[in-house]
Amino acid sequence: MLNPAWKDGLYCDLSEAKVSIEDRGYLLGDGVYEVIRIYNRKPFSLTAHLDRLERSASAIRLDVPYTKDELEAVIFELIGKSCYANGYIYMQLTRGSAKRDHLFPADAEPTLVMYTRELPPLPVIDSVNPAGCITVPDERWLNCYIKSINLLPNLLARQKAYESGSIEALFYRPGGLLTEGTRSNLFAVFDGVVYTHPATNLILAGITREIVIDLMQKLALPFKEEVILLEDISKASEVWITSTTLEVQPINSIDGNVLDHASPGKICMMLMKEFRNLAAED
Ligand code: PDD
Repeated sequence: MLNPAWKDGLYCDLSEAKVSIEDRGYLLGDGVYEVIRIYNRKPFSLTAHLDRLERSASAIRLDVPYTKDELEAVIFELIGKSCYANGYIYMQLTRGSAKRDHLFPADAEPTLVMYTRELPPLPVIDSVNPAGCITVPDERWLNCYIKSINLLPNLLARQKAYESGSIEALFYRPGGLLTEGTRSNLFAVFDGVVYTHPATNLILAGITREIVIDLMQKLALPFKEEVILLEDISKASEVWITSTTLEVQPINSIDGNVLDHASPGKICMMLMKEFRNLAAED
């Protein structure tokens, strides 16, 4: 199969997988999702992703209809059926298919779909290009810790970033509090200390963010889970963003202003390398 997919216990190619038009994910955005990286035919940080899926589902009053062992078995089977070494698994869980109504359906079965797609091999560390970000007001709801499939504010901001030649848009809340990117978490270094937004309801607690925090602990790098201010970001000595698909991505400009430092900086480079080692070992 080119891109193996799974739904309701059945495997098929993604091109043949089907979900009802009345699925509440499609009609109402009533669902949650996960994106898991495959490195060298193995899922990376699988348990952390499955735990987060469960947290997101529980936050929208939905039960994951399979045990973690069952989900893991499907994921390994999907990877086994795929023909590429590096890619990602997409999982989406919705409240199921039912006559359209804002109220939860009494008897709908949740819909769970999973599929894999290939990703290009990662560029060697030395050729990872630093990139720019723009900043935009955070117009999302207050439950960003849920990995909800409702991504419209993220999409609009990301498109704006793309059209201005930037890799990411960074969200800020009233008072200039930078939270995260449209699909990534933000880190910045001030006076040798790494800052990242605390894992509150205002951000998605990224699995990559958590791994980077663990690496900083291991390397005894000083860090604080504290808010970064929009007015300060241009004074940072290093900035980077993290996500499953971007890993550790150095940032060299914000809103068109080139940051006054070499990018990637020393700490970012160290973390990029350590992260790669971990992905290779896992
Ligand atoms: N996005 N913040 C937001 C809003 C995200 O959507 C993501 C991930 C992250 C980083 O999380 P992680 O490190 O677990 O990937 C932070 C995924 C990759 C996506 O939507 O494609």
